[in-house]
Amino acid sequence: MSRLSILVLHGPNLNLLGQREPGIYGSVTLEKINQQLLSLAEKLQCDIACYQSNHEGNLVDTIQEALDCHDGIVINAAAYTHTSVAIRDALAAVAIPAVEVHLSNIYRREDFRHHSFIAPIVVGQISGFGAQSYSLGLQALVNHLQTQT
Ligand code: DQA
Repeated sequence: MSRLSILVLHGPNLNLLGQREPGIYGSVTLEKINQQLLSLAEKLQCDIACYQSNHEGNLVDTIQEALDCHDGIVINAAAYTHTSVAIRDALAAVAIPAVEVHLSNIYRREDFRHHSFIAPIVVGQISGFGAQSYSLGLQALVNHLQTQT
């Protein structure tokens, strides 16, 4: 089997991790999360590319471009989770297996965060484990891709 390539997508305001509402999102920066994912990817013997954008269209473009170069997607669409039909449709269109992650447990928070447009079309969702949600998501996705027939 050839080496898997995973796209890690971060949505709006996640560039401010570390300083943004640390009581909810923790004190780990996005750069640190990406570093941790890179070293986990080495252990899992896969390649990863990390991308953050505050703009819905950029995220849609990046999902479309993944078609030619990535086997799986780990996505924290942040606020767009709860609003974006366009991101959901892009994920459905490329049909690349994806795992949805959230630092906070979105079901313990405000009602408007309880609905995810993305959840019905992903392999699974990990929510509430802080920065660890990303590493759990990457491990689960790689395992899924390696074991699916
Ligand atoms: C988030 C949860 C979303 O509701 C919120 O809009 C975010 C971050 C999380 O990782 O916990 O920006 O996706």
